[in-house]
Amino acid sequence: MKKRVLVSGGAGYIGSHVTVELIQAGFDVVVADNLSNCDLTCFEGVKKITGRDDIPFEKIDCCDYESVNRLFSEFRIDAVIHFAAFKAVGESVAEPLKYYRNNLLSFLNILEASRLHGGCNVLFSSSATVYGETDKLPVTEESPRQPATSPYGNTKQMCEDILSDTVKATAAYGSEVMAGLDKTGPVKGIALRYFNPIGAHPSALIGELPRGVPNNLVPYITQTAIGKRECLSIFGNDYPTPDGTCLRDYIDVVDLAKAHVAAVSRMVENKMEDSYEIFNVGTGRPVSVLELVNTFERVNNLRLNYRFAPRREGDITAIWADPTRAEKVLGWKAQRTIEETLASAWAWEKHLAGK
Ligand code: WQD
Repeated sequence: MKKRVLVSGGAGYIGSHVTVELIQAGFDVVVADNLSNCDLTCFEGVKKITGRDDIPFEKIDCCDYESVNRLFSEFRIDAVIHFAAFKAVGESVAEPLKYYRNNLLSFLNILEASRLHGGCNVLFSSSATVYGETDKLPVTEESPRQPATSPYGNTKQMCEDILSDTVKATAAYGSEVMAGLDKTGPVKGIALRYFNPIGAHPSALIGELPRGVPNNLVPYITQTAIGKRECLSIFGNDYPTPDGTCLRDYIDVVDLAKAHVAAVSRMVENKMEDSYEIFNVGTGRPVSVLELVNTFERVNNLRLNYRFAPRREGDITAIWADPTRAEKVLGWKAQRTIEETLASAWAWEKHLAGK
């Protein structure tokens, strides 16, 4: 029987790419999204790419426990991938309660329903932001987490801890002692720590849809190239890096989506060695902001209007992944080149502009 995955936040940027890869890998998917930060554009794209018109879509807010509970009663769910969260670092500093309420409550509800409906496999969408600033690069999963510098980052750390504590506490559920008492079951968990997801599906039917002025680099680049923004500001060219601009590990969103398929498969096939596991999802290659901009120009054969601007508050100089564990344990490795990825980001922006 096909395994079924609940994808919370499945209509968003990463969620829609993951839904495509799951379906193409033979999973059934239920998408849950409250559409608070996206519309149905990407979900429609998912249906086109997969040729499937019957993907269940549930417009629910995971902060409402009864809605989550109903989903778990209605569908037999083998795994949950939890994306439903706010993600703008700056906004989280201005509106911390909004971030804590939404990001924590939705995850608590997912875990509660998972535990009470016979147990479940839960994959949490975490972030390299948990590592903070460090001199020891690349970072492995054993690298210590640093105190979070924003409420957004804090919710990622807290959710990792909530997952790991829940896994520990529910490990005995369903054992002989507890059996027959109720329908509770063990929760198993994986946290995937993403580096900087960028790019779009090669079909150009799904991609990132930022609302308002983009905070992230690549959507700002593509919107500048299409003429929606006048000029890209490169924040800081006096960092202690080879060209003075920050270094990041840009991971293609389709590669990232495939890492989810590998992780979910490991869970549903009962291959986990520990009931809670963490994996970095990155390429292992540091790329500077300037390199990224220059590559975008070269691959897409255009010139980008950019200027150097002061450093952005809160930015770290450099971070990139050691992705060895994901390769060894999940058999996953980033495949697409930065050129392919930046071409896909541009194709998506042009698709949005109807060009
Ligand atoms: C990348 C580089 C900027 C915009 C953040 C979150 C992280 C994750 C991804 C969420 C930096 C520079 C950017 C611009 C620029 N989470 N830049 N001009 O800050 O590495 O990570 O997004 O969704 O948790 O912290 O990503 O894309 O904002 O910046 O020069 O207009 O590009 O200074 O060096 P970041 P980013």
